[in-house]
Amino acid sequence: MQVPSNWSELVARCGTPLVLCDVAFVRAQCRRLRAAFDFCDLFYSVKANYSPALVRVMVSEGLGVDAVSPNEVELALRCGAAPERIVYVENNMSDAEMAFAVERGVRLVVGSLSRLKKYAARCPGARVGVRINADVGGAHHARAFTAGPQSKFGIHFTQIPEALAIAAAAQVGIDLVQQHIGSGWLDEAIFAEAADIILRQAARFPDLETVDFGGGFGVAYKDGDHPLDIERMGASLRARVAAFQVELGREFKFALEPGRFLAAESTALLATVQDKKIGVDGRTFLGLDTGFNHLMRPALYNSPHEIRNLSRPDAQLAVYDICGNICESTDFFARAREIPVAEEGDVLAIMNYGAYGAAMGSAYNLRAPAAEVFVDGDIQVLTRRRASLEDLLATFIG
Ligand SMILES: Cc1ncc(COP(=O)(O)O)c(C=O)c1O
Repeated sequence: MQVPSNWSELVARCGTPLVLCDVAFVRAQCRRLRAAFDFCDLFYSVKANYSPALVRVMVSEGLGVDAVSPNEVELALRCGAAPERIVYVENNMSDAEMAFAVERGVRLVVGSLSRLKKYAARCPGARVGVRINADVGGAHHARAFTAGPQSKFGIHFTQIPEALAIAAAAQVGIDLVQQHIGSGWLDEAIFAEAADIILRQAARFPDLETVDFGGGFGVAYKDGDHPLDIERMGASLRARVAAFQVELGREFKFALEPGRFLAAESTALLATVQDKKIGVDGRTFLGLDTGFNHLMRPALYNSPHEIRNLSRPDAQLAVYDICGNICESTDFFARAREIPVAEEGDVLAIMNYGAYGAAMGSAYNLRAPAAEVFVDGDIQVLTRRRASLEDLLATFIG
């Protein structure tokens, strides 16, 4: 993304911490992915970033929405997605949540035999999707794998005969087979291998209409990360699905559920250096007016995010431990990171904030979510105001 040249005006107007999203970048990512995978329907995985302004951009680009909770479904509907353009991939859903999905008319993908049974009992004769765990995983961190016997996600492929029997007993058609191997992988080979495996499993479903390959497309967070060659991946998957259709003698629909790839690089989190502390062992701490309440990924996954000094981009480099204002020892964005010399009052930009940044945020330490501005060419719109204490306490009674 481009940090807008008038960032200091925005900071003066809105304060920090401040989220800046480059809408043109989001649109370009959508179009690039759609061109590379023009044989697939794209469903934006709203868990990556549920800012309504962003969801509306995705919907206006023609994407459907991949949701994992009733509120995500409701948000997608409010942002203009038609029910048939919403895939609800459930995980330990309640009966009430299932009833909600059925009433709203969205496509449901169930992730356990138990939920499939409950669906079949409630909706005999209907159609449904299943999420399959085919033991193949990939992710930016071991904690983000979603496959294998230890994973809580999906119906294990060895249980497909039971799934088919449950569906057949209630004349339920399993018309969609989905797999999501994990989030943030940069290994094109693992995606190709996973695609072959899920196609093989999908062929076991007589009512199959759609194979959904999930999301997980990674982006480069640090020097040395190789960005995915999306065009090459699209060509490779196209050949695989073509062979699959020839083998099975009919045509199918194909889908993807990208989140991070579309949103991550579009957005930065701007924060002000509040405190510069010289440690007794020679290190220097830069303390920011943000913390893991706004960006959990470094504390959770040790994820590296590029950090720029917007106030002094050309200063000579210095090494800092860059931390937040949350009262926890894990509240660090980077250790021993080289950035241009920073002083108290400087504004830093934490890059690649658009996916699993604000969305994973909390009000820990009673600190409010950051305000957000969407930048679309010359138009700059405040899309999220800073929450007040009243906002944060609104659901407490007494
Ligand atoms: C079922 C499902 N689909 C899609 C995604 C999106 O993943 P990503 O944002 O890495 O593309 C996730 C993320 O965890 C997921 O669980």
